[in-house]
Amino acid sequence: MENIVLIGFMGTGKSTVAKTLGKMFQMKIVEMDQEIVSQEDMTIPEIFSKHGEEYFRNCETRLLMDLQKKENVIISCGGGTPLRECNVIEMKKNGKVILLTAKPETIWARIKDNTDRPLLKGNMNVEYIKAMMEQRREKYFAAADVIVETDGKKIKEICQEIIEKTGKGELYV
Ligand code: S3P
Repeated sequence: MENIVLIGFMGTGKSTVAKTLGKMFQMKIVEMDQEIVSQEDMTIPEIFSKHGEEYFRNCETRLLMDLQKKENVIISCGGGTPLRECNVIEMKKNGKVILLTAKPETIWARIKDNTDRPLLKGNMNVEYIKAMMEQRREKYFAAADVIVETDGKKIKEICQEIIEKTGKGELYV
C-alpha cells in the first residue's frame, strides 16, 4: 500500500497522528527525527549545535530517499522536511502527503515547555511561531495532497478526517 507522509509545522501533531493511524491500519511508523537521532547518535539540539542546520537537512534528504524503498509505512516528517523541493519530490513518489495545520496560539500551547526544538530556542512565543509559519506556508501547502486542520479536534477526529480525505476508509475495519 502507498505510504502516508505526515507534514506540518512543529507541534501540529504529526507524531501523535502517526501513532494512532499506525495502530488503526497496522502500518509501521517511521519518525524521521527519531531515525536521524539514532543514526547520528545525538539529540536534535546536539546535531544542530555541533554540525549546523544544513547538515541536519542533508540527513533528512538522505533518509527520505532511503524511505522510498519502503511500502505501507507512515512517515512522520520533521517540521522542516517539506522546505526542500527535492524532499517533496521524494515524498510524492510513493506516498500520499497529509498536511496538518494549527494556529500559532495552538502550537505555542502544545510545545511551550519543550526544549528539544533548536529553531525555537529563545523564541518560544506566538509572534515568532506565527512569522516562521508564514514564511513556510506556501511550501507546506504546495506539498500537500490533503490538508487537515487540527485546532480544537480530538486525535480520533483528526484521523477520521484523514481516512475520509485519503479514501482509506474501506481498509479500516
Ligand atoms: C524542525 C522541526 C523538528 C525537527 C527540527 C527542525 C523544523 O521536528 O525536525 O527541530 O525545522 O520545523 P518536529 O516538527 O517533529 O518538531
